[in-house]
Amino acid sequence: QQRIGILGAIPQEINGFLTLLQEVTETSIGGRIYYQGMLGNQSVVVVYSRIGKVAAAATVTTLLLEFGVTEIIFIGVAGAIHPNVKVGDVVIASELMQYDMDASPLRPKYEIPLLEKSYFETDSIRTQKAMEKVNQVINSTNITTLISLQELQKFDISAPTVHLGTIASGDQFFSTNKQKEQIQRALPHVLCVEMEGAAIAQVCYEFDIPFIVIRTISDNANQEATFSFQAFIEQISLVYGKEIITRLLGN
Ligand code: ADE
Repeated sequence: QQRIGILGAIPQEINGFLTLLQEVTETSIGGRIYYQGMLGNQSVVVVYSRIGKVAAAATVTTLLLEFGVTEIIFIGVAGAIHPNVKVGDVVIASELMQYDMDASPLRPKYEIPLLEKSYFETDSIRTQKAMEKVNQVINSTNITTLISLQELQKFDISAPTVHLGTIASGDQFFSTNKQKEQIQRALPHVLCVEMEGAAIAQVCYEFDIPFIVIRTISDNANQEATFSFQAFIEQISLVYGKEIITRLLGN
């Protein structure tokens, strides 16, 4: 029986659609609250993991073992790394990697020891479907009509787009140009950074569970990131979260 686990890292990444959940049961395990219920006609379990790779791995493992979810959707925000990626855009992962994994000289930098793997691919069919649905949210629905002009101007959002590519995860909030330039140099194909996706990807790979990761860009992963991130999660990420999840689980 199909049951979808939907995770964000923080309340502001799930609250937009949590209110749409029907027949809700709450379960508290390991300091997280798991909201089980129906979203449209889909059985789902929604939870926020808290920030970072360990928190994300523990939460997704609980979803798999305690709630028997059959697939995972991660939704949240990220900092832009690639020059084509702008605040308000959406990045959908084709693959994820952990930029802070380094067991060299035992193993190549970034490789997860014993798995002999640095990049974890998302489920291609579900990722394609997500590309279609998120494009509809961005273009047909025109997400910008759901956000106040004042907010759009504050973040310089005019015509958001959807990107498919590599997301890098690690236990660092990017808040300086130096951090950004370093990763741009080392990993020029990376579109954005966040702190959970590749941990979830690794666990899903090990359990052989299909997963996708969808990230709205909240900031430019530089010295303005702290302000931009905080303002974005309070006012905008809820709108994206609600529209994307409704569209994805709907028709
Ligand atoms: N998630 C959103 N913005 C981020 C940043 N600048 N660094 C790491 N994770 C983020």
